This record gives sequence, C-alpha cells and structure tokens, in this order.
Amino acid sequence: SDTQKVIAIDGPSASGKGTVAARVAAALGFDYLDSGALYRLTALYAQKQHVEWTDAAGVAALAENLPVRFDGGAVLLDGEDVSADIRSEAIGMGASAVAQLPEVRAALLQRQRDFLTDKGLVADGRDIGSVIFPQAQLKIFLTASARVRAERRAKQIGLPCEGVAFDRILADIEARDEADRRRAVAPLQQLPDAELLDTTDLGIEETVKKVLDWYHKV
Ligand code: CDP
Ligand code: CDP
Repeated sequence: SDTQKVIAIDGPSASGKGTVAARVAAALGFDYLDSGALYRLTALYAQKQHVEWTDAAGVAALAENLPVRFDGGAVLLDGEDVSADIRSEAIGMGASAVAQLPEVRAALLQRQRDFLTDKGLVADGRDIGSVIFPQAQLKIFLTASARVRAERRAKQIGLPCEGVAFDRILADIEARDEADRRRAVAPLQQLPDAELLDTTDLGIEETVKKVLDWYHKV
C-alpha cells in the first residue's frame, strides 16, 4: 500500500514531540521512534571516539555502525547507559551539527525505517514526514512559542524560568532551531500536508487527544 501505519511528528526543540509521541504510541499500541536520539548518540559517540563533529566521513562511519541498544527506557552505547548523557544541550548542539551532514543522514536512514513493523509506528524528529516516512498516514507539525518551549526545558532540568541560566536555555533553543531550519539537507519545515498543532497554550493530555482524533479520522 502507498500509505503506512505511521504517525510523523516533526517540530522544533522542546515542543513536546517525545512526550506526545510516546503517549500516542502507547494509546494505539504502536512502537515509538525517537529519531533525535540517533543523532544525539552519533554526536556523543563521535566525541568519545575523538572524531570532530564536522568530519563528515568519520562521523558517518560511526553512525553506520552505532553500537546502540534500546533496553526498556534506557539507551546503551557500547554497553554503557548514556540515557542521561545524550540529553544535555551540549550534545543537542552536537546532534544538530552532525545532522547537517548528508552522509550522516544517509547512514541513519534505513535504521529509522526498520523501526516500522505491522504494529505501526509513531516517530518524532525533524524530517520524519518529509524524508523518512513521506507516506505517513498522519503528519503533525508540533510547535509552541520559543519562550514556552524554553520554560518547559527549564522545568525539566529544575531551573527557574528567569535569570541568566534561563536566558541561555532560550538562546540555545533559538540557535538550534535556526540551524535546523536553515540547513540545506532535510530542514525543519511545516509541510503542506501536515497538521499544525501549536501547544503554546495546550497541555499534554489535550495535545495527545487532538492527535488521536486526527488519526481516527484518517
Ligand atoms: O521531544 P521534544 O524536545 O519536542 O519535547 P519533550 O521532551 O517531549 O517535552 C519537553 C518538556 O515539555 C517535557 O518536560 C514535557 O513534559 C513538557 N511539555 C509540556 O509541559 N506541555 C506540553 N504540551 C508538551 C510538553
Ligand atoms: O529534544 P529536542 O527536540 O531538543 O531534539 P532532538 O529531537 O533530540 O534532536 C536533536 C537534534 O538532532 C536536532 O536539533 C536536529 O538537528 C537533529 N535531528 C534531525 O536532524 N532530524 C531528526 N529526524 C531528528 C533530530
């Protein structure tokens, strides 16, 4: 068939993609793919192997053979639990850097498609609806204002929503979004066939419900 049991959720940093995608997947009995984790793992692995994030051939070779295992909620790299390490904003920046390299994106393409089985899949990232699963049954562009997204990130790591540290989080988020939007290969974009879901004033439950409502209509 030319459509697949796939829900693609793309959008900027801290818009709630992971949280919403995991809940939608659980509600439907689908698998969940956090594609950003693969870019984060690639950046961390390169750092550990002393390969520069700008070394396209070197990083792509690592991405091709990522020794990663998803074990329940934990992410293991070379047997080491790196679940917390990959969530730092420094590794987020590294992920955004290696994600600009076409060689790296190509190396991670099939690995992402392999997550789809007869069960169905909810996948989140930047290019799920455009490149990885262009035949997805439902595409969502999940967003929120930069300030609200920075507040969510701050709360997540236990920081106040004002002050120098907060300003830094906001600036980092805006810089990474800008890089993801402007890059030549697989940029972050709102596709014409994607539903726009702005969660600036929307809670997690309402957002999940909205996605499920759309899915049940298609
Ligand atoms: O995956 P992504 O970076 O897009 O975002 P996330 O990690 O799922 O969400 C970032 C934080 O925002 C989490 O702590 C969520 O619980 C929170 N969130 C929220 O408060 N309200 C929403 N509507 C969506 C997410
Ligand atoms: O959690 P957050 O939304 O901040 O980031 P993420 O989804 O874990 O992605 C980290 C970085 O990986 C992004 O800033 C993108 O540069 C890159 N990425 C990508 O290029 N394509 C994807 N499908 C997923 C992530």
